[in-house]
Amino acid sequence: MIVAKAFAKINWLLDIGSLQPDGYHDLFTIFQTIDLFDDIYFKNSDSLTLSVVGQDQKPLDIGSLESNLVYKAALQLKAHLESRYRDSRKESGSLGAEIVLRKRIPVAAGLGGGSSDAAATLIALNKLWDGSLTPAELATLGAELGSDVPFFIYGGTAFGKGRGIEIEKTRDVEAPYLLLVNPRVEVSTVRAYQAFDQLTRNGLLNILPSCSFTNDDQLFSQVRNSFSTVVKNLHPEIGEVEQVLTEVGGDPVLMSGSGATVWAKFNSAQQLSEAAQAVQNYSTNRLSKKAEDDRVDRESKGDKKNRNEKEDAQWLIIKTRAIGRDEYFNSMLTELKS
Ligand code: C5P
Repeated sequence: MIVAKAFAKINWLLDIGSLQPDGYHDLFTIFQTIDLFDDIYFKNSDSLTLSVVGQDQKPLDIGSLESNLVYKAALQLKAHLESRYRDSRKESGSLGAEIVLRKRIPVAAGLGGGSSDAAATLIALNKLWDGSLTPAELATLGAELGSDVPFFIYGGTAFGKGRGIEIEKTRDVEAPYLLLVNPRVEVSTVRAYQAFDQLTRNGLLNILPSCSFTNDDQLFSQVRNSFSTVVKNLHPEIGEVEQVLTEVGGDPVLMSGSGATVWAKFNSAQQLSEAAQAVQNYSTNRLSKKAEDDRVDRESKGDKKNRNEKEDAQWLIIKTRAIGRDEYFNSMLTELKS
């Protein structure tokens, strides 16, 4: 059996350019893997099965199996290897696996969870099935699954260009004290791109700015995200999260990907812990104030019923750190005797 850690990412920087004829936007981004991961278990089997569980091991509803990126990645690698074996007239046997995905990375959060799961699946099954595909070949397969997948074949700090699939490795950025805060809103990436197009009238920005840096502070002084303004218009809570993270000392503070997660960098473990506690207190107070405002509002309207709408949830607060390329590569797969 193989256990894979599928690490999440943040974007240090994300510049979006114009919409291309293929329906994708040109972009320039700097990706960074972080120490927050889903676990994926792969066992040899005659057929291909997938189940998805939460941190408590209870099954999660994933909708249709065919739309799950882990399942799609497994099918795609299987088809690729089987056609290669057919060409070389070798016996491939039946390529199957029993896969269990344990989710920890929040979904539709700008952290690349689904894409990372897909990349880890390609890497793990390439090993389980003795595929011997190179990282470049896996990245090419990954690009068909999603624009963020090729980056997760390599991890660490990397530039993403074109559609996001042209990956250029760079020096690992050091950031041992990062705080992620998600206001519990899910953002659709497609919707975020549409909102961006409306705002810029189909991407007025034809020439993409780029960014080079010789030290980490240089990078931290120029972080930016083209989605920030439009997505904050759609979900004002994200602006509130940014403001709170800045007030508790995060520097810099930026939304990741198409949101809604916001990351903040701190300079020590103590600063990070204190900031996490302060954000937690803010979120708790915010929730009780909302509940009280709702109660007063209902009473003024003579509505005696209990509040039956979905309660607002606490913000999700995660302490993490940047993961460099070597650590990413060395800690991704563990083989267990089963
Ligand atoms: O590649 P992926 O499946 O992640 O992309 C989802 C959608 O996001 C695309 O169908 C497209 O609408 C949008 N997208 C884009 N430009 C990119 C990447 C994604 O417009 N570079």
